[in-house]
Amino acid sequence: MRDLFEKIYKDKGPLGKWASQAEGYFVFPKLEGQISNRMKFQGKDVITWSINDYLGLANHPEVREVDAAASSEYGSAYPMGARMMSGHTELHEQLQQELAAFVNKEAAYVLNFGYQGIMSTIDALVGKDDIIVYDVDAHACIIDGVRLHMGKRFTYKHNDIESLEKNLERATKMAEQTGGGILVISEGVFGMRGEQGRLKEIAALKKKFNFRFLVDDAHGFGTLGATGAGAGEEQGVQDDIDVYFATFAKSMASTGAFIAADQEIIDYLKYNLRSQMFAKSLQMQLVKGALKRLDMIRTMPELKQNLWKIVDALQSGLKERGFDIGTTQSCVTPVYLKGSIPEAMALVKDLRENHGIFCSIVVYPVIPKGLILLRMIPTAMHTLEDVEETLQAFSSIRERLNSGLYKRLSAAVSAAMGE
Ligand SMILES: Cc1ncc(COP(=O)(O)O)c(C=O)c1O
Repeated sequence: MRDLFEKIYKDKGPLGKWASQAEGYFVFPKLEGQISNRMKFQGKDVITWSINDYLGLANHPEVREVDAAASSEYGSAYPMGARMMSGHTELHEQLQQELAAFVNKEAAYVLNFGYQGIMSTIDALVGKDDIIVYDVDAHACIIDGVRLHMGKRFTYKHNDIESLEKNLERATKMAEQTGGGILVISEGVFGMRGEQGRLKEIAALKKKFNFRFLVDDAHGFGTLGATGAGAGEEQGVQDDIDVYFATFAKSMASTGAFIAADQEIIDYLKYNLRSQMFAKSLQMQLVKGALKRLDMIRTMPELKQNLWKIVDALQSGLKERGFDIGTTQSCVTPVYLKGSIPEAMALVKDLRENHGIFCSIVVYPVIPKGLILLRMIPTAMHTLEDVEETLQAFSSIRERLNSGLYKRLSAAVSAAMGE
């Protein structure tokens, strides 16, 4: 019989095989200093384009003050236990009411973590006779939620309404046999490429098909829509989203998440979300911190305006210089270049060491082989000088990439890896 761990010793997986070259630098890097547009990486100052602090709240003095006061008042334990048992408080309820009002829904429920929360939401919404139809590019947390489902599921091609319709036809036939219903899942903004989910077109299909609609708006909340209520507000279809989800890990610059829906749906979910019923309640310093952040998002529109000033400058600057930024419709700013993984490593090293630019690098298997994706997250903290410096650096690395420099630099790495 085989040792269970044999595969671990033999094969570290498509990303894990790069660990000895990549760890500490390309993956698991340590950014130091206060969260800001400029931080330190390995002792050097870098412009940071990889932190989802869209509105610049993470280190805002007012936020820090509230966080510190709440921590001093409550410590990091209170309240203890799951919400249902002993971890419920007035302030959890207040936060839920304020979140619901902000995203224009009847009710909301606060979650400890987005990832587990949305998994449980999917799990609680469907039974074995129900059918899930979801975008093939959905975030891992949606895929894992779908994995919990005992019934049928179909993917539709990314943001492809024709493909969604085809799958809804199949799902409808199947649901007629099983006696179940249909759940459609999309993201408000797809976090890698920055496209908005086609929520308006999806919602319009409700006229033709009978389904319920769940939207993960992790990147849309706080950044899109007239008031910052997200992609549903931006596309004018918030009412057609049956269950709206957002995390506190991005615009709210914290930990935690929430779902919002009609009161009856939330009443059902709060008794059926396994990852919340059997896990410790979100601690008070985070709840108080979330109330403060939400208040600032609501009352300080200049935060979103500053964010979009930087987004527009960065995206239009990249386009003017002929960079391929794909089809982004949000703050997420991808730059696509052609090259191998070793070339991508040499390029990112140049960006960090010689230009002081820190952004995330995404390669195969997350995106197709032969493509390098440099993913940038602009924030309200960035300045137009940061943008200008970055644009110049990008022009320089593109020249070097095209001249074959990174290929030569990476040849030794490639040879060592047998690539
Ligand atoms: C689209 C999306 N959904 C859900 C999550 C998970 O949220 P959390 O970090 O709160 O677990 C993330 C990452 O933060 C995300 O990008």
